[in-house]
Amino acid sequence: MSAPNNSYDPVRVAALAPDEVDRMTAEALAAIAAAADFDELKQARLAHQGGRAPITLASAEIGALPPEARAEAGRRISAAKRAIAEALTARQADLEAERDRRVLIDEVADVTLPWNRYPAGARHPVTTLAERISDVFIGMGYEIAEGPEVEAEWYDFDALNFPPDHPAREMQDSFWIGRPDGAGRSGLVLRTHTSPVQVRSMLTRPLPLYVVSPGKCFRTDELDATHSPVFHQIEGLAVDEGLTMADLRGAISTFVAAMFGEGLRTRLRPDFFPFTEPSADVSMECHVCRGASTEPGAPPCRVCRSQGWIEIGGCGMVNPRVLIACGIDPDRYSGFAFGMGIERTLMIRHGVTDIRDTLEGDVRFTAAFGVEA
Ligand code: PHE
Repeated sequence: MSAPNNSYDPVRVAALAPDEVDRMTAEALAAIAAAADFDELKQARLAHQGGRAPITLASAEIGALPPEARAEAGRRISAAKRAIAEALTARQADLEAERDRRVLIDEVADVTLPWNRYPAGARHPVTTLAERISDVFIGMGYEIAEGPEVEAEWYDFDALNFPPDHPAREMQDSFWIGRPDGAGRSGLVLRTHTSPVQVRSMLTRPLPLYVVSPGKCFRTDELDATHSPVFHQIEGLAVDEGLTMADLRGAISTFVAAMFGEGLRTRLRPDFFPFTEPSADVSMECHVCRGASTEPGAPPCRVCRSQGWIEIGGCGMVNPRVLIACGIDPDRYSGFAFGMGIERTLMIRHGVTDIRDTLEGDVRFTAAFGVEA
């Protein structure tokens, strides 16, 4: 710092001369304006506002001026510093705005681009529905039982009390497995229903017994809107002391309530299956019109074809002959069984009108059921 200068000497305080201050200011403003990014602006700030900046050094010279010159020089310096500070602030704001604009452009997401190039796979609705149905029975204490799809004739028919000449055993109804040497039947059949799993369960599991068995079944049906040579059933079987048809009915009502809604009535009508006695077909009140479509003049119901009832499966009390074939004492134990088509349940529940939709593997069909894991 210079010594006090009582006799004003314009040379020694050249740094405070108006031209010089203007020059330093112009230089600072030019550097600030030229700062192309935050780094350069930081450098400009250090060079023109920091402790070693010409303007800072100049302001330290004010004390060297004669007292009458200090006020004016001080004002000049202040104005210069203010101009520099304002320029720095303005440039900082410009650079920030520019960065924000660039971020908006650089990081813009084109929401019209296809996003899902590899859509997640989904399990088939027949599979997820089979699990849902199983869960209803698991909630009642049932276990899952499985059996082979290529089944011995004895399990599929004999043990289930199908007489040897029963039409279901005919080639026209069942897919028989030939012998490798081509010489006639092998005694193996693609199982025509899930009922052989009843037999397997009774032969291998301890009593009392409560099982459900979902699985694939095969029949030589022509593929059309309501038939498929490959389809799924879910079978329920309970064997315990003192079981009656009331228990069977309770199991079915619980299933219907869980799948189609509370308060729907169920109806059992006499039917025939070799492995149950008595046997019944199971219907439930139409979950869409709840019977209203049967009233005179009412609008028709597509789902139940204005019948008010929808048939959902077969059931009955396990035939004592089947219990005996499986080594169970029919005087002590009784059982009930029921079987339902899973595709059929899916079609009723979701208004699917063509069973072929469940077979073709078109994701537009399956995706409508959601991507349940
Ligand atoms: N297995 C029978 C069918 O395929 C259905 C059924 C199962 C009937 C259990 C009664 C009891 O048609």
